[in-house]
Amino acid sequence: MVIAKISSVGCWVPPKLLTNQDLEKIVDTNDAWIEERTGIKQRHIASPEVATSDMAYEAAKICLVNRGIKATEIEAIILCTVTPDMMFPSTACLVQDKLGAKGAWGFDLVAACSGFVYGLSTAAQLIRAGCHQKVLVIGSDKMSSIINYQDRNTCILFGDGAGAFLIEAGTEEDGGFLGFHNEIDGSGGDFLKMPAGGSRMPATAETVAQNLHYVHQEGQQVFKYAVRKMYEVTRDLLEKNGLTAADVKLFVPHQANRRIITAVAERLGMPLERVVINIDQYGNTTAATIPLATRDAIEDGRLKKGDLVVFASVGAGFTIGATLWRWSY
Ligand code: UT7
Repeated sequence: MVIAKISSVGCWVPPKLLTNQDLEKIVDTNDAWIEERTGIKQRHIASPEVATSDMAYEAAKICLVNRGIKATEIEAIILCTVTPDMMFPSTACLVQDKLGAKGAWGFDLVAACSGFVYGLSTAAQLIRAGCHQKVLVIGSDKMSSIINYQDRNTCILFGDGAGAFLIEAGTEEDGGFLGFHNEIDGSGGDFLKMPAGGSRMPATAETVAQNLHYVHQEGQQVFKYAVRKMYEVTRDLLEKNGLTAADVKLFVPHQANRRIITAVAERLGMPLERVVINIDQYGNTTAATIPLATRDAIEDGRLKKGDLVVFASVGAGFTIGATLWRWSY
């Protein structure tokens, strides 16, 4: 069996910050509420001329430089996003061209906050099946492009950013991919969505006037579901692999709300020293939270070759996923 390993990580966030204090001037909210209820202190916001593909390109470039390979060596690009530059062509195509990844194929993967976790399990299968040697998984979202900055329920939560992992064929000594557990549950679709802009409700002056091209969320419903399902898929994935939370060196959850993360960790019996939380710095960047959290853990010296790491998420759809790796470098 070919081993699929993570061989490089690269991330990029726009420099401009939107702090809780900035939001206090826009909507009826306050720093103390946001920090207590979400754990968020600030988010990075892209300038108007920067699109999802631009952030994805920057993250991918760093990822390739860190590994010391050329873009022409990439065989496939899985671009996870809910904020594509446009409906089509895919953002994967735009990034392939910008990078100069000549000869690669690829596609956009739409799974909201679980996009990156789904991208990892998909890339791992392409490598394990022997189809490819090098697959780039990118999570990039310009959430600020679909947020209503008059709606205090949602505008405090999200930020912009991008991150990429290079998934490569490796050998047994490299460690690498060990398993995944993904689910979808469309019965929860109404709790978190952008209602208009698709074939069900194409863009009209009325849909724009009614704010239907923005994120709409029933926060408490999503919160409860996220805690239960992120715990369940992680527990089940560990059980399937004959492991317990005690074996996991680092738990890297999607960053939607600090309270969701700590509740899941508590249920898993995972001490917070082994959980990555960086939501205070970036907010919820949707498909980019997991690479950003991983990058920060590497920079903090929290992830070493041979460590067992779990990436887990719940997102709009609902989409749910967890994937288990032995860290390879
Ligand atoms: O990425 C995956 C998808 N997203 C998530 O996982 C997010 C899941 N949900 C959440 O993180 C939380 O539900 C929120 C952070 C969105 C909301 O927190 P909550 O503790 O569930 O608050 P709530 O919606 O129950 O609201 C509590 C109170 C309400 O006031 P009343 O009715 O008690 O008087 C809200 O109007 O807080 C009020 N409120 C705010 N106050 C100040 C809601 N938003 C704000 C705000 N600032 N921004």
